[in-house]
Amino acid sequence: MERKSVERRTFLKGGAAAVGLLGGASSELSTGGDQALADAPASGLPQQIQAAIERFRAAIPPNFDHDYVEKAVIPFFLTSIYGDQRPMLPMIGVDFSKENALPYDLWGLITRDWRPTPEEGVTVFLQGLEKRGPNNLRKRIYFSGVTPDLYKPMYSPKVVAFLDKLMDQRFAGRPFMRHYLDYYFDLYWDLHLGVTGDDIPFEVRQIGESFNTVLAYRNPLLPITYQNYMIVRKHLDFLKSWIDERLDDIENGKAKNSEKTMAWYWLKNAGDGRHFEKKDVVFECFHNFVALSQWGNSIFGIMSRLSEDGGDPAVRASFQKTMSGNFDNANGAPYTPLELFVMELFRVISPNGGSISSIHDARTSSFYGTSPQASIGVPLERHSYINTPHTTTSMDPVHWKDPSAFDPARYLGVPTSAQITEDKCRQIGLATCPFDITNFEVKDGRKANITNSGFGTVFGVVDGKSLPVCDYAGFAPFGFGYRRCPGEQLTINVFEDFLRKVWRDKILFRRLNAPNPGEVPIGPNAVILDDLGFTRSA
Ligand code: HEM
Repeated sequence: MERKSVERRTFLKGGAAAVGLLGGASSELSTGGDQALADAPASGLPQQIQAAIERFRAAIPPNFDHDYVEKAVIPFFLTSIYGDQRPMLPMIGVDFSKENALPYDLWGLITRDWRPTPEEGVTVFLQGLEKRGPNNLRKRIYFSGVTPDLYKPMYSPKVVAFLDKLMDQRFAGRPFMRHYLDYYFDLYWDLHLGVTGDDIPFEVRQIGESFNTVLAYRNPLLPITYQNYMIVRKHLDFLKSWIDERLDDIENGKAKNSEKTMAWYWLKNAGDGRHFEKKDVVFECFHNFVALSQWGNSIFGIMSRLSEDGGDPAVRASFQKTMSGNFDNANGAPYTPLELFVMELFRVISPNGGSISSIHDARTSSFYGTSPQASIGVPLERHSYINTPHTTTSMDPVHWKDPSAFDPARYLGVPTSAQITEDKCRQIGLATCPFDITNFEVKDGRKANITNSGFGTVFGVVDGKSLPVCDYAGFAPFGFGYRRCPGEQLTINVFEDFLRKVWRDKILFRRLNAPNPGEVPIGPNAVILDDLGFTRSA
């Protein structure tokens, strides 16, 4: 305690703090050049900058841990995220890399050292294409655990049991999102490792909840963000060991029904493990805190639109129309009516606003000469990322005649990933497909291939039948191309189950008009007032 407060005082008083802001945010990144700056007295800085630093220092609560300030707060302020243009085709070029494309202040949530440490495991989410093995192999192995053929036999019973419990009559009239979050980790761990209820240790529940809270509040200066960030760090090693042991149970046949978990497919299809080691499976299991946390803002977005008071009349009418028909029958089309409805919900809700990429200073290869920082050996460059937008791309009039209409049928007129072939690429005007079309055959007993479209979009072909996604830039909520979300169809299936239940049990969402609704962190960058509940009459 004493040591920390001394360190903290030094940080706040010294020129190092000023330089922390101006120069080396994190000591791992520091070089001789940063150090030279660190040694310069703060008083030598231009007055305007010093004043800004003073204001910044004053904003940092004095009880914050020294490492947290240095590795999370300062990088947060030194990070820039730039806007990319809206893509015309559903692709992101490989020069915008996924390699370590995580806002720098968040590394401390997933690694002990607050920085990329690939030797301790990686997630495909933060890997450049060139690191994933031939033809995006790592992504294909990941995808083997979430192809849509698995949903009905393996995952749906878990989801349906979860929803039944969630929307049991005794929970009617209560704030819904707090209640959802109280149960959510039962489903999360059941899907990943087949563990639920009391078998999930307290630490594992707490780290998940804290992780979501940090993502939701996001601003590292808030005490709630700080406290939860530190809880995540406290339990990270415990969590990893716990997951590792559960994976042993799956591998040794000690776990029951392990083929009903995503991890089983990842372990089975990892081959020699070179591109998906066991430590990577551990990493994926908890990095998915980020991925599945988006189910929270999705569910809230859907409830709000279906709500009896203040809902969206077009969405409500479309729901009535969809569910009054044969909603699970695709009738030869690539998607069922219910699937189309859920896709359209995701287009308009867009729970994930954009795909971020890491970028590098391109001055050497451009008209503008070399990077001055590089040429004098002072790496003043900060963490910069580029954001390829989803919401505005989905709403772009270039892609749809009527982008603001709620129209699930729109996807029947645009290509699926199975239709983006060499011929189609030529028809569009390209000389060849941007990505070779290749296959990865799974080794888990199914007759399934993980293939890709000419745009790089990965999808499954099971028992000779393609299970494609909509491969059109105007459908952006799950990203684009080789790096598009593998959890898309699982997510759509989960929300189909949600809506089937809402329809079957005549569930209605209503505002509760509570005098002081609770603030609930429901997803990345999303803290809401929890004032919606449900009633049911079946
Ligand atoms: C509402 C739910 C979800 C949304 C909106 C969503 C959205 C996205 C988006 C936009 C991307 C692309 C990011 C980029 O290119 O930078 C992505 C990637 C990814 N998602 Fe999801 N996701 C969801 C659920 C899931 C689920 C349930 C899983 C796992 C079961 C998952 C696993 C992943 C992974 C591993 C990637 C990285 C793919 C790659 O880089 O090749 N996501 N997701």
